[in-house]
Amino acid sequence: MDELLITKIQDIIKKYGKDREYLIPILKKIQKLNRYNYIPQEVSQYLAKYMQLKESEVYEVISFYAEFSETPRGENIIKVCDSTVCRVNNNTETIKLLESLLSIKMGETTQDKNFSLEYSPCFGACDISPAMRINGKTYGNLDKKSLKEIIESYRR
Ligand code: FES
Repeated sequence: MDELLITKIQDIIKKYGKDREYLIPILKKIQKLNRYNYIPQEVSQYLAKYMQLKESEVYEVISFYAEFSETPRGENIIKVCDSTVCRVNNNTETIKLLESLLSIKMGETTQDKNFSLEYSPCFGACDISPAMRINGKTYGNLDKKSLKEIIESYRR
């Protein structure tokens, strides 16, 4: 691991402290350091050592929470709500359109690593369903036209 990355990781841990209860917020910040939204194995090993935790504890958290990944994902993570209200408001059409626009299936990453498509539980945008989030920004009332425009705005 390069020195700059080690320094950034140490800075994050210093802000929270080494207590295990801060592992999730620390992992969130560390994952954001990576362009491809994942936590490489060498990083989780380093983190475990530095925080004096078992490697298995860190891996358990990474594999339990859907927002963490051990493998590279797209720079832009599209999370489509798959909870009741969005389902009732035809999120299957949203999913079909996204899959077609990006030429990937849900759970996959585009070849150029620009987009990943993932499911999400309700994030409180039910009043504008069907809804999705891209890198945490919420978009709602999705239809063919708006989806196309939104995706185009994120293309490299
Ligand atoms: S059910 Fe989709 S945002 Fe709430």
